[in-house]
Amino acid sequence: MLSSLKKINILSILAIIFFCLVAGWQLSAWSLEPIPERFQAGRETYLESCSSCHIAIPPEVMPTETWRKILEKPQNHYGTSVNLVSLNQILIWQYMKYYSRPLNQDEQVPQHLDESRYFKALHPAIPLPEPLTLKTCIICHPSANSFDFRDLSNQWQ
Ligand code: HEC
Ligand code: HEC
Repeated sequence: MLSSLKKINILSILAIIFFCLVAGWQLSAWSLEPIPERFQAGRETYLESCSSCHIAIPPEVMPTETWRKILEKPQNHYGTSVNLVSLNQILIWQYMKYYSRPLNQDEQVPQHLDESRYFKALHPAIPLPEPLTLKTCIICHPSANSFDFRDLSNQWQ
């Protein structure tokens, strides 16, 4: 009895160690800045759900209303469909809402980055590619794939 219990304990400890290694390995692919604990699950869910077809977009480049629209209708996403269960929708929304800013009342909700006042404000007097697509970020942000937009290519340092 005792020895079989011990066996189970060792097995579960091994399982936990294995899980931590795998989780640590996965997280290390992202260069994430520390954020408050209450938004961490939201950010992880965001990165898991929104980085498979294009890079994960930093929340601050779009207004809160754009994120709300995207999260409310994931099945209607720029000509494709995104799978999101409602729990993930809520987790992502809490994170995106906190890290983005609302529009003024008379402003239109932008659908694309080049229509977003917040994106423009983050790129003052920077000549941007035309068309500005999610594939172009990496030209100036070499670590865009790891969700790091502070890291800039030599030209901009
Ligand atoms: C199934 C693939 C797929 C997934 C998953 C996905 N997207 Fe997209 N997304 C696209 C496609 C396709 C486009 C249009 C082409 C492009 O901009 O790359 C797009 C475009 C966008 C744009 C507009 C970019 C612009 O300036 O034109 C935003 C914003 C966006 N996605 C946010 C998200 C968010 C938030 C999530 C997670 C909820 C997400 N995407 C998950 C496929 C996807
Ligand atoms: C032509 C070069 C260029 C392109 C392309 C570009 N950026 Fe930038 N971006 C910059 C520069 C330079 C800065 C720093 C501006 C400053 O601090 O004055 C910046 C700043 C940012 C910041 C703020 C980073 C911080 O300090 O926290 C974000 C977020 C960002 N860019 C996102 C994007 C995204 C998303 C794309 C792709 C749609 C993109 N950028 C495309 C040059 C570029």
